[in-house]
Amino acid sequence: MEHQQTCSSADIAEADEKLEKVKHAIVQFKLMKGALIPVLHEVQDIYGFLPEPVLQVVSEELNLPLSEIYGVASFYHFFSLTPKGENVIHVCMGTACYIKGAQAVLDRLSTELKVPVQGTTEDNKFTLEATRCLGACGLAPVMTIGEKVHGRLVPNAVPKILNEYN
Ligand code: FES
Repeated sequence: MEHQQTCSSADIAEADEKLEKVKHAIVQFKLMKGALIPVLHEVQDIYGFLPEPVLQVVSEELNLPLSEIYGVASFYHFFSLTPKGENVIHVCMGTACYIKGAQAVLDRLSTELKVPVQGTTEDNKFTLEATRCLGACGLAPVMTIGEKVHGRLVPNAVPKILNEYN
C-alpha cells in the first residue's frame, strides 16, 4: 500500500497555531512559582499528550532541564507522553465496580479492541485505561468513553457499546 506523508500548509499552520498557544501559556505562567505543571496541563490540553519537541520548547523557555520535565510528566498519572486514541475508555477498578465484575468488562474490552490496558488501537480510535473510582458507584460496574458514562455493565454489552463509536 502506498503511503504518502506530506505536510499541507494547513497542517503547518495548525502546528504553528498550537505552538503559539503553548508559548502564550508559558508567558502567562513563567513568573509563577511551580509554572511547570500548569504549562504541562496547557500542552496536554492543546495536543492531547506531551510531545517531545514541545517539551524541548518548554525546557528552553522555562529554563528547566528536560530530565526534570520528564520526571514531573511521568510522576503524575494525568500526563501522557504518548498520543491517545480518539476515544479514551476509562474502566473503573474501584472497589464497588471491582466487586461487581469490572475485571471481566475490562478483559472483554481488551479482547474486542485487541489492545492491553494503556494500549491504543491500530486505527487510533480507542485508548483503553483502568482507573480509580469515577464517583458513580451506584451504577457499578462503570466505564466512561469520552464524556459519556456507561453503567451496570456486563461483558456481553461491550461489542454493542463499542459499535456506537464506529
Ligand atoms: S468504584 Fe467504580 S464508580 Fe466508584
